[in-house]
Amino acid sequence: MREQSFVMLKPDAVKRRLAGEVLSRFEKRGLKIVAAKMMVISPELAKKHYAEHAEKPFFKDLVSYITSGPVLAMVIEGGDCISLIRKMVGATNPSEADMGTIRGDYAIETGRNMIHASDSTESAAREISLFFKDSEICQYTLPDEEIIYEEP
Ligand SMILES: Nc1ncnc2c1ncn2[C@@H]1O[C@H](COP(=O)(O)OP(=O)(O)O)[C@@H](O)[C@H]1O
Ligand SMILES: [Mg+2]
Repeated sequence: MREQSFVMLKPDAVKRRLAGEVLSRFEKRGLKIVAAKMMVISPELAKKHYAEHAEKPFFKDLVSYITSGPVLAMVIEGGDCISLIRKMVGATNPSEADMGTIRGDYAIETGRNMIHASDSTESAAREISLFFKDSEICQYTLPDEEIIYEEP
């Protein structure tokens, strides 16, 4: 099923100049970037985005991490892409993430794990609407969709 996921390169990924490298993995997989913007997240938006973790002991550090520099917020589209991107991202704790995943290849600590990706259709819809207006999401066809998908 064609889906959209909210994906965000966190400030450590941007500051380490790994944005292009990570973005390129999604492109090479055949996924479609339909929205992207660089921004410094406000504490208010960070708290809304991570509302499910409000009671966790790491919440304060998480908000200061995610607001500590620019992020690259994106909407990515593709077949079953929510679970597919979560697999590409790897386990929350990079030291437990498989090699070949983004966190497993580039990161070391949970508190600096480089990337966020939606974990369900419900959170994808919620997160996309927190960060993007409908008018900021582009609809277009990639010329190789008929090569990548059996039924484009
Ligand atoms: N124990 C922890 N210590 C510090 N930061 C954490 C911890 N657990 C989670 N985080 C941070 O909060 C983010 C959200 O947590 P969670 O939703 O559980 O992981 P994921 O990003 O893999 O969906 C993580 O990506 C990480 O940046
Ligand atoms: Mg999560």
